[in-house]
Amino acid sequence: MPSTTEQTIYLSDYKEFSHFIDGVELTFQLSPTKTRVKSKIHFRPNPKAPEQAFFLHGEHLKLISAHIDGVKISPTLTETGLTAEVPTGPFIFEAEVEISPETNTALEGLYMSNGMYCTQCEAEGFRKITYYPDRPDVMATFKVRVESALPVLLSNGNPGTSDEGIAEWHDPWPKPAYLFALVAGDLIAHSDSFTTKSGKDVALNIYVRPGDEDKCAFGMGALKRSMTWDEDVYGREYDLDIFNIVAVDDFNMGAMENKGLNIFNSSCVLASPETSTDANFERIEGIIAHEYFHNWTGNRITCRDWFQLCLKEGLTVFRDQQFTSDMRSHAVKRIDDVITLRGRQFREDNGPLAHPVRPESFVEINNFYTATVYDKGAEVIGMLKRLVGDEDYKRALDLYFERHDGDAATIEDWLKVFEDTTGRDLTQFSKWYSQAGTPRLSVAGEFSDGTYILHFKQATPPTPGQPVKDPRVIPIAVGLLNPNGDEVRETCILEMTEAEQSFRFTGLSTKPIPSILRAFSAPVILERQSSTKERAFLLAHDTDPFNKWEAGRALAKETLVAMLTADAPVNSDFLDALAAVLRDENLDPAFQALALALPSQDDIAQTLFDAGVTPDPMAIYTALETLSQSIAQHLQDLLPRIYAANHVDGPFSSEAAPAGKRALQGAVLGLISRLDGGDQARAQYAAADNMTQQLQALACLLRIDRGQTELASFETQWAQDRLVMDKWFGLQSGLAAPQKAAAITETLTKHAAFDWKNPNRFRAALGGLTGNTAGFHAADGAGYKLVTDWLIKLDAANPQTTARMSTAFDSWRRYDASRQGQMIEQLKRIQATPNLSRDTHEMVTRILG
Ligand code: ARG
Ligand code: ZN
Repeated sequence: MPSTTEQTIYLSDYKEFSHFIDGVELTFQLSPTKTRVKSKIHFRPNPKAPEQAFFLHGEHLKLISAHIDGVKISPTLTETGLTAEVPTGPFIFEAEVEISPETNTALEGLYMSNGMYCTQCEAEGFRKITYYPDRPDVMATFKVRVESALPVLLSNGNPGTSDEGIAEWHDPWPKPAYLFALVAGDLIAHSDSFTTKSGKDVALNIYVRPGDEDKCAFGMGALKRSMTWDEDVYGREYDLDIFNIVAVDDFNMGAMENKGLNIFNSSCVLASPETSTDANFERIEGIIAHEYFHNWTGNRITCRDWFQLCLKEGLTVFRDQQFTSDMRSHAVKRIDDVITLRGRQFREDNGPLAHPVRPESFVEINNFYTATVYDKGAEVIGMLKRLVGDEDYKRALDLYFERHDGDAATIEDWLKVFEDTTGRDLTQFSKWYSQAGTPRLSVAGEFSDGTYILHFKQATPPTPGQPVKDPRVIPIAVGLLNPNGDEVRETCILEMTEAEQSFRFTGLSTKPIPSILRAFSAPVILERQSSTKERAFLLAHDTDPFNKWEAGRALAKETLVAMLTADAPVNSDFLDALAAVLRDENLDPAFQALALALPSQDDIAQTLFDAGVTPDPMAIYTALETLSQSIAQHLQDLLPRIYAANHVDGPFSSEAAPAGKRALQGAVLGLISRLDGGDQARAQYAAADNMTQQLQALACLLRIDRGQTELASFETQWAQDRLVMDKWFGLQSGLAAPQKAAAITETLTKHAAFDWKNPNRFRAALGGLTGNTAGFHAADGAGYKLVTDWLIKLDAANPQTTARMSTAFDSWRRYDASRQGQMIEQLKRIQATPNLSRDTHEMVTRILG
């Protein structure tokens, strides 16, 4: 049983807080184990919430004293907070509490990381700092005074007076407590400035530990690009005199949008060509944008309660995706996003953890920072935009900002601005928020007398707690091609609302080839019978880049499924189609690289399971190896030429074009390595002057079970760089051959640099193994056992990261009886752990179902 009593919170129980807050003053006297926090909170009764007892959240706090209007009180304390008798009118509540940041290994509330103090309050961490109504609909202005001998003392808002050992900060914008932040440390600022469209100067700083100052320039550029983009595209300007970012080594998530003081996992902000890959650069740019965009979608307009989390996260992910598309390539970004969506969200939506984009109950809200809330939440907004069109989307967003600035809003508020702008009724559309599960969309085409009819059917399988699903509104983007490859009907949006629906296209001279669900216009699984010939045709001719890629992906999947279920040989039409893609000099190298990549082991496992076949992880691994080997042999003559043609000269640039060439080179190198025993990869490794190429080469070698010399020299070269060493750990557990994966990971956990309390390092080593599908699912159960041992150990220190990583077991139902039995045994072992956290207990209980 978990240590804290499990209580389920329901959306339908929402009640306003008993009071409003007219201002908060906080003083922090920082000390590693005895930090004093003094608070002074101005409360005023909320006339709409009468008769409620006065309750403030508070956990793991040592109350020193409490006063109301200057009179000492003795409030009633429980494990979760404080209740007190309060005056009927406005009053001032004061408290002094003691907390211990140094021993806070959960990394929630105020904690220490490498000698610096920092905070993470979202979702419910502020209650570990002081007594407070820790809920997003209670908003207040904050004045903060920090007392410490450390040189840099930061909090939200604009700086006030500061003196030796003292800094004051004033945030004029009312905010919920989850956006509070404090940082104190021996930090160095990389500084710059930005002038907003209306002419306001904003000081910008990225604060890092000494030694990291040469890794800030890219992040600063990304921040300025984000600020400009949000002005240009959404008309949103920044609203304080200063914007600070701080890099922290120990952090549970990617980053946090605290008002004016964003705190980042150092892996999501620090960048240099020598230490960061192209993928790192793109991700860092996207996350900096994401957190910056939250200033409007999240901070100025926040969430009424945590059930509305997708209100800020879905929209902000959607905005950061738009931003990255604009900075780089729309086509490539869309393909990348769909790969991520299918890999994480579809898996979640089709397993025991499936939940609606807006959940209706939770035990631990941290368990709902999920791919469904974030990524499906973004897809839902993309659909809305497709349905109403770009113009109306813009008008609706303008209305949203105008109407709800300063509010703690709901999904109903969000949909209402679209209804008011367009006159549409979004009742059916809102099911995307309330019903879990991925719709299956099947389609058949029929042609006669110049008319082409598409017959669609939709159905969504049951998910936990939701046995029956209603039809959704599905925007289906369709274009028609004629057999010579010309587009005879441009993309249009078919709006499907029924369980079965047909759409007709008239006036056609020949039977067209349909391109369906262009740009992946809805987060559904499209089931479409099609010939290899037709898929190859679309891969060669589709004018929609997503569907062009998708045709190749479908071919790859069909090939693999046939190999696995019918002992079929590798489909040579697929190999020819790939050769054609590689030869096509008009294609973007980044696209060619994506077309060469095969579906993941996990993707194939889910596909087989959906088709009623029990996946064998080792057979999937072997089929992918066989297919890769065949591709390498088939493309043998082309590969050296493509490799050479995509060589990038000159100083490193992380921009999309050179990054795309390196991506293609890397994909080609992987194939070459299967033919030359790793000679070319060793040469690339030796010559590499950037992390992208160094890591690519090392990965290619590990994939063919070579590279021990390079692994050792990599370790020597990068021993002092935590972020690069994370890659070293992750690559080994992630790419180990299946039979050895658990043993290799276990050895890594005994390495002197395996600091298991650091989430990045833990995720690198153990997350590498759980991502190594055949290795994790090795028949002897060694992977399951090792991961479980470590999850149990980590849970006592860091529940959030443990709970998140326990999702590795959420696919147990797919597998054979022996694997199922072993996974259930390990889940039960976790569940039975004394003092297991509420976070992990909720997760394993849901996974077991
Ligand atoms: N709001 C942050 C972001 O956008 C995530 C913070 C999540 N933190 C947590 N403890 N669940 O992306
Ligand atoms: Zn976010």
